[in-house]
Amino acid sequence: MSRGREGSSTRSADRRSRARFRACHSRGRASAPLFGGGDAASQPACPPGVSPPEEIERPTYETGLRRLFPAVRDAIARVLPLDRLRWVAFSHFEQDECGALNELLAAAPRAQAACSTVGAMTSVGDLAVRPPRPLADGERIRLGLHEVTWWDAPHVPHGWDCGFLSESTTRTLFCGDLFTQPGASQPPITESDILGPSEAMRAAMDYYAHAPSTRATIEKLASTEPRTLACMHGAAWRGDAAKLLRELAEVL
Ligand SMILES: [Fe+2]
Ligand SMILES: [Fe+2]
Repeated sequence: MSRGREGSSTRSADRRSRARFRACHSRGRASAPLFGGGDAASQPACPPGVSPPEEIERPTYETGLRRLFPAVRDAIARVLPLDRLRWVAFSHFEQDECGALNELLAAAPRAQAACSTVGAMTSVGDLAVRPPRPLADGERIRLGLHEVTWWDAPHVPHGWDCGFLSESTTRTLFCGDLFTQPGASQPPITESDILGPSEAMRAAMDYYAHAPSTRATIEKLASTEPRTLACMHGAAWRGDAAKLLRELAEVL
């Protein structure tokens, strides 16, 4: 590939990354409530007994590739100052999930990686410039206005260390690589079919480990009865996500 084409392909990858980040982090979109989009003044009023906005522990989920870090950093900074970022969580140890982890930890001095116990033990504890927070299956982190729960999901779709976060107030499942839809033209959120496109992707490149425990793991995720699936790759999906997860388990 020529240097010119390489530069143009990097720029278009940056543009796609910015668009994808906006899709996940803009106000009114699938993950905006969890990520506390906007400044403190724009946050909803706190119910009694809940931390005031300045004590909200703002997380981000998935760092993206290391080479895309400048675009991700700038996009986060449009939502909140990086020195207010508290958690950098991700589904599993893989370059697109956490490739820019150390760059993000360097730019966000209060932030700490949060990942599965297996991920912390096998990879992140050694790689990260600060010790990660290992999360056990079912462990909760209170963020102020919201609360997330970690669910171990070994080998679903892949990776011994794999797991997902769910948010109980918005009933959002941050489902990482599940329902991966190829291409960069999806809307930020849809109620249209995503299982068909993700199965077409899997037919071309099966990224599932197909472990004996896969069906039970997907049922565990379905039992949280999510209303929004915040997919890492492709459009987020709104609807009866428990039903869609069970349909996924059937076709695997
Ligand atoms: Fe992955
Ligand atoms: Fe991914």
